[in-house]
Amino acid sequence: MAPVRDPNTLSNYDAWRTKHTTANLKIDFADKCLRGNVVLELESQTDKASTEIILDSSYVSVASVNSGSGPLKWEIKARTGPNGSPIHIAVPAGASEGDIVKLEIEVATTDKCTALQWLTPAQTSNKKAPFMFSQCQAIHARSLFPCQDTPDVKSTYDFNITSPHVVVASGVQVPGEPESAGEDDKLYKFEQKVPIPSYLFALASGDIVTAPVGQRSLVATGPNELAESKWELEEDMDNFIDHAEKIVFPYQWGQYNVLVLPPASPTEVRMENPIFTFATPTIISGDRQNVDVIAHELSHSWSGNLVSTCSWEHFWLNEGWTMYLERRIIAAVHGSNAHFDFSAIRGWSALEDAIAEYGKDHEFTKLCISHKGIDPDDAFSTVPYEKGFHFVYYLDRLVGRENFDKFIPHYFGKWATKSLDSYEFKDTFLDFFSAPEYSSLKEKIAEIDWEGRFHTPGLPPKPEFDTSLADVAYELAKKWQSKDFSPSSPDISSWTGNQVLVFLGAVQDFEEPLTVAQSQTLGKVYSLSDSKNVELKTVYYHIALRAKDKDAYQGVAELLGQVGRMKFVRPLFRSLVKVDRDLALKTFEKNRDFYHPICRQMVEKDLGLAGEAK
Ligand code: BES
Ligand code: ZN
Repeated sequence: MAPVRDPNTLSNYDAWRTKHTTANLKIDFADKCLRGNVVLELESQTDKASTEIILDSSYVSVASVNSGSGPLKWEIKARTGPNGSPIHIAVPAGASEGDIVKLEIEVATTDKCTALQWLTPAQTSNKKAPFMFSQCQAIHARSLFPCQDTPDVKSTYDFNITSPHVVVASGVQVPGEPESAGEDDKLYKFEQKVPIPSYLFALASGDIVTAPVGQRSLVATGPNELAESKWELEEDMDNFIDHAEKIVFPYQWGQYNVLVLPPASPTEVRMENPIFTFATPTIISGDRQNVDVIAHELSHSWSGNLVSTCSWEHFWLNEGWTMYLERRIIAAVHGSNAHFDFSAIRGWSALEDAIAEYGKDHEFTKLCISHKGIDPDDAFSTVPYEKGFHFVYYLDRLVGRENFDKFIPHYFGKWATKSLDSYEFKDTFLDFFSAPEYSSLKEKIAEIDWEGRFHTPGLPPKPEFDTSLADVAYELAKKWQSKDFSPSSPDISSWTGNQVLVFLGAVQDFEEPLTVAQSQTLGKVYSLSDSKNVELKTVYYHIALRAKDKDAYQGVAELLGQVGRMKFVRPLFRSLVKVDRDLALKTFEKNRDFYHPICRQMVEKDLGLAGEAK
């Protein structure tokens, strides 16, 4: 049989495919683990009756594997690389094509589980209860329970979750009050009837309350954060969903809810778990300025969750398409395409930075990234987001908006509940535009260099942007290059946060760094060092570090103790270590437990502490 097309799974999903998963798990806050059993219903794909089922696993503890007819022999093999330890389960009788084998796996997570975060009551704002949540993308579901941990396999789910605290999951809650399940525990039941890949399995539990923020939407968060979270989201939620539905087609999942994680949560998570997007509290900034994040995660309800990449090699199909839909929604909400371009300009400069950081020939700067022997967390960057966006946007411009708008629902309809690779995307596009009504586009479409677009490293061709919203920001940056400019706070007082970011991005890209004095003036006059907006503050600190403004180093170290999001933490450490290695190492040591295990591991590599630095 041909090898499976996802290099990040060790499962033999060519022979068996999970159709339904039932997770019967207890959340044990005392032991910080999940335990119980998981029932996988696997369909045989071959009449040659494979007698072995291989599943992915990583640091899980398995006690037994049973089928309907009794215990099965199983063995967890040694870890060989980033993909974890496969579990081989013998099914001596096999099964004919189309038949289902039901495996009941008794399982517990271990302290090496990379999918779960546990917060103490002290890390929540009302200090009443502990909190836990999962983050499975890309390949961490296998550290919860053995499964076919590949986006190429989709399963429906039943969640039967026991916890002393309220539970949310990536399914629709079964109506009715949760039953009591002994002592303080209750049983929370959810169903996911749309088949989803394993990386979208999600749970959270803690002192969680909810409030409506739209016709189909709730916000869920701690009691102290409920009012402000509701205010932040309620204005835009229905608008976003309405616009998204107009661009693609009706929302398929029933509810669209947002879980805002506790304020002291050590990482920033913005994750499109179906039914419940998980988001960290920095989106609640009191000014409705960070709601683009919701447009992004909501867009994944079509790109990623309904139509999924078949492996992390084609991750752009999830994130590039999502950036495109996000920008379309934002433009529609503002009623002006200038907002699409404005966001795209920011994306372009992030892409330039990422490619400069890797080097323009690096594998990870390709649209399709080879993942053989690669941990998807290591390959993660802005590239699939922005290079992916630029590929989608290029196709949009090539065929014209009116035509592209017809392709969008066709594509998402054709691949809904399925997974695909870049070549299947290409075929879908070519097939759609080969229809007679598009014959005038024939030559243009024949010009598309698919191979080049998929596999050439470095920057793609840069399009013309409508720069009107960015121009004012660039003009101010230009003034900062002239010696006789005296800045004052009105320079930026009427701008949006994102415009300030564009201005700072331009300053960051000056050929010559700012002088220490200039950098200090920048921080003071525009109140950047006291800003609560982490994004703004981070760019400012990159400018200050480049200027070698020693007065800023302590602020950088403090920020690195307050934010855990890899997007900020890794580049800040990389800039800090260049100017003050001691402080970088001390800051990492001080905060190592604060970071998510994935983030911790990445920074260790960045700082050359892991023995395998890039
Ligand atoms: N799906 C991603 C988050 C993710 C990617 C988690 C890969 C784990 C592995 C999510 O939709 C996302 O893109 N989040 C962004 C924010 C977004 C507004 C661009 C993030 O967290 O950086
Ligand atoms: Zn995303």
